[in-house]
Amino acid sequence: MGNREDEKIEDKIAALNGLASHERWMAYLDTVAQLPYMTAVKQQITELLELHPGDSVLDAACGTGDDVQAMAAYVGPTGRVVGLDIHEKTLIEARQRAEGLGLPIEFVRGDVQQMPFADDTFTCCRSERMLQHLPDPRRALSELARVTQPGGRIVLYDTDWETLIVDASDADTTRAILHAKRADVRQGWIGRQLMALMREASLHDITVIPSTLILTDGPLAIALHELRPAATLALQHGEITQAQHDAWFAELLLRHQEQRFFSAVTAFTVCGRKL
Ligand SMILES: C[S@@+](CC[C@H](N)C(=O)[O-])C[C@H]1O[C@@H](n2cnc3c(N)ncnc32)[C@H](O)[C@@H]1O
Repeated sequence: MGNREDEKIEDKIAALNGLASHERWMAYLDTVAQLPYMTAVKQQITELLELHPGDSVLDAACGTGDDVQAMAAYVGPTGRVVGLDIHEKTLIEARQRAEGLGLPIEFVRGDVQQMPFADDTFTCCRSERMLQHLPDPRRALSELARVTQPGGRIVLYDTDWETLIVDASDADTTRAILHAKRADVRQGWIGRQLMALMREASLHDITVIPSTLILTDGPLAIALHELRPAATLALQHGEITQAQHDAWFAELLLRHQEQRFFSAVTAFTVCGRKL
């Protein structure tokens, strides 16, 4: 999957820049979810889960709960979809979005590293863009395997931040900023580690599917990949100067105006089965 994101997104960027913290986070999740790349990834995850009517499904770290709602259509009224997330405010948003829809779904607060579910509760589990934030992804995998029924599938999707590239003329400044970005993500290499984590959790029939998000909209890429905070870190660590920092962003915005901006990052969707 390699997509150009050519849609008009100025209003979304404005929303990302202007809103208070929780609203901004929700706007961030919605903006990412609406990228054609992400829509395709989410569809692929659902297909890999092979959902059937009556299934019991877990979305670990469900965010806004939109994926929980989408999966409810596959499991039907005899099934059940549970969205787990650690943040109460996020769950309030998820519950509000689902209110009145009459779907067989529920939202539960909890830590994926220690989940409040009995062994073998779910037919299958998904988790998207969550492991990169965790102190102990191995523990999360072991928990996901524990709550999945024998024969059930687990599908993970996460980014490998070392694969983030941005075209710019100052290679040293680019490397320093992208390095700071990767180092600022708790598990910046999680994408390449997903397959081994699945094996260590005794999962079988593992498949790995890479996908690359290409962004040719400079302001969107700067906002979504949080390049300004990364550049500030590089500056604070003395890896770049203020002049290099300012020149780098000025060049990226010029490239955007001239339709020469290019960035890409690769993520991996990994599917495994519990024996
Ligand atoms: C990048 S968001 C992705 C949300 C959702 N999966 C999506 O695709 O839109 C990461 C989510 O992980 C949740 N999260 C972070 N640490 C967690 C933990 N230890 N247990 C459960 N959820 C966690 C956050 O609250 C956030 O909603």
